[in-house]
Amino acid sequence: MSDWTIGIIGGSGLYAIDALEDAQWIPVQSPWGAPSDEILCGTIGHVRVRFLPRHGRGHRLAPSTLDARANIDALKRAGCTDILAISAVGSLSEDLAPGRFVTVDQFIDNTKGRPASFFGDGFVAHVSMADPVCDRLSKHAAKAVLASGGDCTEGATYLAMEGPQFSTRAESRLYRHWGAEVIGMTAMPEARLAREAELPYALLAMVTDYDCWREDGDAVDVAQVVAQMQDNAELARKAVELFCRSLPRQRTPSPIDRALDNAVITAPDKRDRGA
Ligand code: ADE
Repeated sequence: MSDWTIGIIGGSGLYAIDALEDAQWIPVQSPWGAPSDEILCGTIGHVRVRFLPRHGRGHRLAPSTLDARANIDALKRAGCTDILAISAVGSLSEDLAPGRFVTVDQFIDNTKGRPASFFGDGFVAHVSMADPVCDRLSKHAAKAVLASGGDCTEGATYLAMEGPQFSTRAESRLYRHWGAEVIGMTAMPEARLAREAELPYALLAMVTDYDCWREDGDAVDVAQVVAQMQDNAELARKAVELFCRSLPRQRTPSPIDRALDNAVITAPDKRDRGA
């Protein structure tokens, strides 16, 4: 066994991973709340895998209802060293057609009031989010998609919206002006919390639709999103498997493993770690 333990956060359409060996659903408690589901623990080749369906099995939890703090904390407690998150997204760019995979490298967070930090009550930290994803995981994920026979664009800006309704056309056009290239409802505050938990994080997005910014384009609906997800689900599963199988045996440290080293501002004798 290697020293990687990969947390996979499965988005809409990805509720289990068949390639897992010795797979077992295990409940993990978190003081931050209830994680979206039990964690499916097992191995793929030389890599330990901890899989958490973001919306729960059967898609029970809406983006605003799921507890990202509990999810990230549970994955940390389950021993994860790194996180690969998978999400369905809408496209805000003509170049990113439905069916394509995209590795996200920047975020604009337009969610409204979701708990977005582990810190602040007796223990204050400000981690850097300048480079919010782990480059080596992202590159590795893109390679795994290509090796699985998919198309992958490397590097896109993700607009996180609150939902659960899809955007108005005016909002969709506004986000394009902001420089966003894909849109989704779940990767924030997840990515922030992963950084606070010192977990390198990459987001592999599956484009399911063109949202509603195109002049004579249709409005997006769930049927369209689900149909495209079903088309891509097999490829996503294959990419996750290859991602794990092709990791080097030894995990060299990432600077993100020590993201809190220069982030805590509360004086040592005044720190109250609470939960
Ligand atoms: N997830 C998939 N497609 C989406 C869209 N158009 N807007 C927000 N989230 C999405």
